[in-house]
Amino acid sequence: MLTTGTYPSTRLRRTRQAAFVREMVRETRLAPAQLIQPLFVAEGALCGPVPSMPGIVRHDLDGLVQECAALHALGLRAVALFPVTPPERKTANGDEALNPDSLMCRAIRAVKKAVPQLGVIADVALDPYTSHGQDGVLNASGDVDNDATCEILRRQALLYARCGADVVAPSDMMDGRVGHIRQVLERDGCKNTLILSYAAKYASSFYGPFRDAVGSAANLGQGGKQTYQMDPANGDEALREVALDLAEGADIVMVKPGLPYLDVIRRVKDHFGVPVAAYQVSGEYSMLKAAAEKGWLDERKTVLETLICLRRAGADMILTYSAKDAATWLGA
Ligand code: PBG
Repeated sequence: MLTTGTYPSTRLRRTRQAAFVREMVRETRLAPAQLIQPLFVAEGALCGPVPSMPGIVRHDLDGLVQECAALHALGLRAVALFPVTPPERKTANGDEALNPDSLMCRAIRAVKKAVPQLGVIADVALDPYTSHGQDGVLNASGDVDNDATCEILRRQALLYARCGADVVAPSDMMDGRVGHIRQVLERDGCKNTLILSYAAKYASSFYGPFRDAVGSAANLGQGGKQTYQMDPANGDEALREVALDLAEGADIVMVKPGLPYLDVIRRVKDHFGVPVAAYQVSGEYSMLKAAAEKGWLDERKTVLETLICLRRAGADMILTYSAKDAATWLGA
């Protein structure tokens, strides 16, 4: 027999032969408790399906609460809430972000009341509320004013924490906002509120369908978010962002989007050894859905593969629009 290297004493195919051993040598696991479902909440005529995200709907308050109960029963431990704001409530300064009776505040309270064990993650940023669709308030030259925005974000985060949000998740990418938020939570009686920071959030074209869903796409027009979200070409810079957010008081750091940024997830996990979240964003979801609808990909197998790959890269938890489907498949 021909002997090359350690073959035939080494045959890696041996541990792939039978299901029992494949399962025993599997290095990474995927469980519903690691998945977080992003949910859109709306009112009146704004409720209904999101055309660019087949299978995803903008729930009314009752529908949202029912959905949360169903997700909890499937083994999910947390949801991330995103409000859809009617155009007439949007202003240049995003005032609705600080309204204690906003749809977002009512949604947080309703979910915590109905399903108290389910973790509620509240996104903190101004884009659902600004008439221009940017994540903060603008200065005279039309750029997002970092420090003025932080002043609003800290109040927004405290408001959501007081409504019952277990986790506040600043998704705005302002410098220093995690510190601002941590300080106010600590000072005003919310010391156990978690901060999940969108630490390495890239200026990505994969957010398109989300912006359709929350109605910020048209307002944003051709204007991008490159003056605050990261350049997809950068990896070292992600480590600097994460280091700052951790120093400022973040409990969990996120890399976003997911699949095209697996290297960033791995570097963050290796470098810091802290809880890492990955966000498989709207465009990633829609891309797989579209191919599945055409019969070009097997949705179930492909989605589960992407999720295990995000886990293998180092994500402890994954925000994904496929969370409900995946939890159903994993339980089946
Ligand atoms: C906004 C926010 C965005 C997403 C989550 N929070 C969009 C953006 O930055 O324009 C995107 C999520 C997705 O695409 O699924 N602060």
